Amino acid sequence: MNKILPPKNGKYYLTLAIESSCDETAAAVLKDGREVLSNIISSQIDVHKKFGGVVPEVASRKHVENIDMVIQQAIDEAKVSLEDIDHIGVTYGPGLVGALLVGVSTAKAMAYALDIPLVGVNHIEGHICANYIQHPELKPPFLCLIVSGGHTHLAYVKDYGVYEILGRTRDDAVGEAFDKVARAMGLGYPGGPLIDQLSKIGDSKAIKFPRSYLEADSYDFSFSGIKSAVLNYLNSQKQKEMEIIEADVAASFQVAVIEVLVTKAIKAAKEKHTDQIVLAGGVAANSGLREHLKKEAEKEGMHVLYPDIKLCTDNAAMIGCATFYDYIDGYKKDLYLNAIPNLKLGEKNR
Ligand code: KG4
Ligand code: ZN
Repeated sequence: MNKILPPKNGKYYLTLAIESSCDETAAAVLKDGREVLSNIISSQIDVHKKFGGVVPEVASRKHVENIDMVIQQAIDEAKVSLEDIDHIGVTYGPGLVGALLVGVSTAKAMAYALDIPLVGVNHIEGHICANYIQHPELKPPFLCLIVSGGHTHLAYVKDYGVYEILGRTRDDAVGEAFDKVARAMGLGYPGGPLIDQLSKIGDSKAIKFPRSYLEADSYDFSFSGIKSAVLNYLNSQKQKEMEIIEADVAASFQVAVIEVLVTKAIKAAKEKHTDQIVLAGGVAANSGLREHLKKEAEKEGMHVLYPDIKLCTDNAAMIGCATFYDYIDGYKKDLYLNAIPNLKLGEKNR
């Protein structure tokens, strides 16, 4: 598909994007879909830390408090004015309903007041699009492993916005498993980065945790088994009053998860005859996953791409990029746009 738009009155397109699906209030301004002029993120991590995870009601309230300021900052930093914006994109799912509604209502009000098009964006699609920003040369088709706190998908990206879902998790998302294991170890929230750090000084062969590959021809995932295995290990060590070497537990857990993700991703890339594997989502920040996937992909003559850490975890720049491609494809929304908490990847209703 040709994705070059004729310049608008000889100028470029400016996208304002808003993201509020979970615990980051974010806004960004992009030029022609891939050039980020500003990318403002107000994280609520410190607020939710003391509860050991995201508290939905608190998240909604914090979004309400912060969203206007974050949008203003995005506009200021991009050195544009609201009148210059051509269209507004907002995450309308999946995510926490109350959190999503804050972004959706704000975007609707702005689109109405400025009399410009409104585009509803799928958050998971945004994670994939983070790679278009990071790698200007990247274009479909490619194999994408999407790993975040709420989602785990193996998808073949046939074209911009066109996905063939090969597999998904049947229970916990990868990031969720990292966070739950970290909580059981008393490490704090979010657990993924802490386990990643700890793994670097641990022995990944110390404890043999199970690898769940499911049926031989399946690209689905299951992480609840390994999560339970780690919890059982911790409990039994405590009961026997035996030492728990946290770094070894972290490294052994992480490698078990990574091995399954990498094996399935490479198998799927081979099946789809593509030599491009793209990582997306918060867990794409994991250093072990990046290294292991790169190493194994190189053996097969494939290459691996992923975004910078700031573009891996939730942000609005990725939503802006998805907005642009949706806009080109005509996925504009009217002011009846609503939040869809369980929106699926590839599900688009015009
Ligand atoms: O994409 P994201 O910001 O939010 C969702 O859309 O879910 O992902 C957040 C998840 C959390 O579970 C967090 O623990 C995990 O990404 N994460 C990591 C790392 N950095 C963030 N997991 C493993 N290793 C990391 N370095
Ligand atoms: Zn996300």
